[in-house]
Amino acid sequence: MQWSGMIRGDNRFFQRKKVTVVGSGNVGATAAFLAAQRELADIVLLDVVEGVPQGKALDMYEASPIQGYNANILGTNDYADTAGSDLVIITAGIARKPGMSRDDLLVTNVNIVADVTRKIVELSPDAILLVVTNPLDAMVYTAKRVSGFPRSRVIGMAGVLDSGRMRSFIAQALDVSIEDISAFVLGGHGDTMVPLPRYSTVAGVSITELMSEAEVAAICQRTAQGGAEIVQLLKTGSAFYAPGAAVVEMADAILNDKNRVLPCAAYLEGEYGVNGYFMGVPCKLGGGGMEGVVELDLLPSEMEAMHRSLESVKALVAQVDALGVF
Ligand code: LAC
Repeated sequence: MQWSGMIRGDNRFFQRKKVTVVGSGNVGATAAFLAAQRELADIVLLDVVEGVPQGKALDMYEASPIQGYNANILGTNDYADTAGSDLVIITAGIARKPGMSRDDLLVTNVNIVADVTRKIVELSPDAILLVVTNPLDAMVYTAKRVSGFPRSRVIGMAGVLDSGRMRSFIAQALDVSIEDISAFVLGGHGDTMVPLPRYSTVAGVSITELMSEAEVAAICQRTAQGGAEIVQLLKTGSAFYAPGAAVVEMADAILNDKNRVLPCAAYLEGEYGVNGYFMGVPCKLGGGGMEGVVELDLLPSEMEAMHRSLESVKALVAQVDALGVF
């Protein structure tokens, strides 16, 4: 049997869409693995640490015959390998360690995300950037400023994760399947996030009709503290399965041009009375990235909560601007 005519040589790799994941830590590796399993694209996993992205990528590729997914997965320390990416997931950055202030995390990660963004956009000028690094609201702003990309192509991951947490708590509380539950968490990705019970439903019925006020309040509270709850349990790090799944859900909506409506950190240009800041709002995610902001008719109390959340986003952004990295 003659096989030579069937080998595509140099063109074998990246006939599919190309997704780069920057950062091969827990969140990055989980996102890469889930994206490969869903056959969203060929994956490049990049990190500055030598050997780790290569080892994890090879390990994932070796799982593919067993799991039965088709995806090339390349681990690398070289940005040249990311050239021509359709979508880039940025997870690079340090996690908070004992004795470290929140400001230390912000300063270090602004520099990391700015550096990563510069290198990525040089080689993938048409890519859509999905930012995951914390503090999210400041990091996605950094990526937008450094890239100069339109708002459709710089999006932060927060709402899908926070809403996912809220959905899981609703499912537990009502003892119903997660499949029929939808939830919306807006605002910044911090203590001031804004769970919206009115727009959170089980088979279309708002949870405000299914639970007592106290139960709803408890779910909202646990959702807002969802990240901290995991940190407290893990002690040495933060969540990664749900954050990885959340960013891959967004990547899927974009790469498969689904026009899904998902809560994302989007750069607002007047929507919800906000101009020039990223906020978690319902967005249409499709082939062009963030294709539109859905403006809900919020009650005065909900709008107030959004604007309280905006104040904490503004404080983070002011810290970023004060660093003068742009
Ligand atoms: C969380 C952190 C990682 O919400 O932002 O789990």
